[in-house]
Amino acid sequence: MNISLSRFLVEQQRAKGHISAELRLLLEVVARACKSISHAVNKGALGGVLGSAESENVQGEVQKKLDIIANEVLIEANEWGGHLAAMASEEMDSIHIVPNRYPQGEYLLLFDPLDGSSNIDVNVSIGTIFSVLKKQDSQEGVSESSFLQPGRQQVAAGYCVYGPQTTLVLTVGDGVFMFTLDREQGSFVLTQSDVQIPEDTKEFAINMSNMRHWDQPVRRYIDECLQGKEGPRGKDFNMRWIASMVADVHRILTRGGVFMYPWDKREPHKPGKLRLMYEANPMSWLIEQAGGAAINGQQRILDLQPTQLHERVSVILGSKNEVERLHSYHLQQS
Ligand code: AHG
Ligand code: MN
Ligand code: MN
Repeated sequence: MNISLSRFLVEQQRAKGHISAELRLLLEVVARACKSISHAVNKGALGGVLGSAESENVQGEVQKKLDIIANEVLIEANEWGGHLAAMASEEMDSIHIVPNRYPQGEYLLLFDPLDGSSNIDVNVSIGTIFSVLKKQDSQEGVSESSFLQPGRQQVAAGYCVYGPQTTLVLTVGDGVFMFTLDREQGSFVLTQSDVQIPEDTKEFAINMSNMRHWDQPVRRYIDECLQGKEGPRGKDFNMRWIASMVADVHRILTRGGVFMYPWDKREPHKPGKLRLMYEANPMSWLIEQAGGAAINGQQRILDLQPTQLHERVSVILGSKNEVERLHSYHLQQS
């Protein structure tokens, strides 16, 4: 029997009491927006969605047409439902408060509307990453500071990967579930429950072109992997780097592995490339919920107190024993 995302969410609300009616609505709306982004992605050149938009986001990155389209789809889908107080996006300078003409809810939605922008025009998997927080009761109104909560306070997190299949992956704190888009039915269908990441792996993901800029613990770890059977690890490793975090994380949730975008010496004042609120927090929660681990080198990512909306962070996540090894290499250095 097929279980649709809608039915799954109703059961999470009714039988398990894990989510409120508003959060259920929010997740339904996010899934609908992802479906619509998936259609735009699929049309590609036929839909005129490829190429650059010739604008820059707040982080100085050139925006692609699809970055902007996906951002607009998510904003328009979510602002009128009454479930949200405000939204924040990698592609917007400041937060988007729900306009006065609509009722305001208590949830905060954060997203990377289109992850893996450099892969859009070359027809490689890309995705949407989202994170949901709840406005703290003590707060009057909503402002940027409402969003500055550590990742462990997320109430839902997930992503949708637009690849050979469109797959939505979700956690509400009760394990990780995968839903595949059935295009004929127009709905997401549960295709994997309670995803678990193997604790050990022989596969790592890192952009090797940055090797000369890495810090010692990361160099040591990769160097030992590269020595294979003859080295201290006593086994051969394989490497993958898709350059879409969604696709790399999806592979790790499916068959294990370790993903790293560590701090490096290119721009030493920047803590890393990936964004804490839109990428690292939701992915770290999914990975932990599937039995893996996620750190910035020294600390658990979900415990970091954000100080800025667009803050960046060093990311190491995936199979538990590998992440713990990397953690110990970092602690030995400091
Ligand atoms: P975005 O497209 O949202 O800016 O994110 C791209 C990120 C991430 O998805 C990926 O892992 C990484 O950037 C790739 O960076 P490099 O091109 O430096 O490898
Ligand atoms: Mn991204
Ligand atoms: Mn993006």
